Amino acid sequence: MLGNTNTSREMTNIPNEKMNKSPKADRIKKKNPPRIIAVTSGKGGVGKTSIVANLAFALTQIGKSVMILDADLGLGNLDILLGLTPKFNLNHVLTGEKCVSDITVKGPGMMQIIPASSGIQRLAELSKEQKLHFLTELSVLDQCIDVFLIDTAAGISSNVIYFNVAAQEIMVVATPEPTSLTDSYALMKVLSKEYSEKRFNLLVNCALNAKDAMTAFKKLSLVTERYLDISLDYLGYILLDENVPKAVRQQMVLGEAFPNSHANKCFNTLAQRICEFPVSGDNKGNIHFFWKHVLQYD
Ligand SMILES: Nc1ncnc2c1ncn2[C@@H]1O[C@H](COP(=O)(O)OP(=O)(O)O)[C@@H](O)[C@H]1O
Ligand SMILES: [Mg+2]
Repeated sequence: MLGNTNTSREMTNIPNEKMNKSPKADRIKKKNPPRIIAVTSGKGGVGKTSIVANLAFALTQIGKSVMILDADLGLGNLDILLGLTPKFNLNHVLTGEKCVSDITVKGPGMMQIIPASSGIQRLAELSKEQKLHFLTELSVLDQCIDVFLIDTAAGISSNVIYFNVAAQEIMVVATPEPTSLTDSYALMKVLSKEYSEKRFNLLVNCALNAKDAMTAFKKLSLVTERYLDISLDYLGYILLDENVPKAVRQQMVLGEAFPNSHANKCFNTLAQRICEFPVSGDNKGNIHFFWKHVLQYD
């Protein structure tokens, strides 16, 4: 008997999948929100830009759609490294002359790059309406990107520190050199004490071998465990390999110039690992949220 009122009420509350589904919904499978990873370091010259470009390419080779934000104000060298000459940058979006898709350039493996350059500095000066317009435009990217990588400037005094705070994951790049390790420590200290960032992932670049990289990670995690209330996970390493600067000189990614090089194998392993690595549990998982933070829009 269907007369049990509770049961029938519960039944009517169960959403009818068939009724709610539009025919289009069957065809369009919405992607998960993108991983948003800020690639950062305590000091410059440790390989961030090379890592962003080569990791992005490795990710495209395993079927991921990747977008890069070139947020390094100093030298916008990502485009040079990839042999691209973008005509427009973020500035043109902010002035309303162009939309985001107009300024985005395609790189190897169909990776997409947003050339930001000086536009980054202007973000904070936007009016509330301009910010909202910008945010609305960017939120469409959530549906078509798997990984969003941000090539940030190094250091703690930089005004792009907000990119680290806004991103879902922070990849700290360090070399095994003691100065790089202490600068990484200083960066994590500021981000944890002043910006309440508690989770970091370490990538060791220019490692001589796996053991060298692990030793560097252990040295750093020993001090962070002792003095900082953070968790530092080990993402892996990229070997010191002369093919990295060689590929830069050819303005090519390693995966195209020297696919069998030791360093390229490390990038492929890293790309796999990133896809398997658990996403941090917070709710920073969409591009809209990311930009809202960067713009300090509430
Ligand atoms: N794994 C590596 N092996 C050898 N050279 C590297 C490696 N990674 C980066 N480099 C070189 O180090 C220099 C600095 O790299 P870059 O990516 O510009 O650093 P950042 O963006 O951190 O300033 C470049 O000449 C680059 O070719
Ligand atoms: Mg750089």
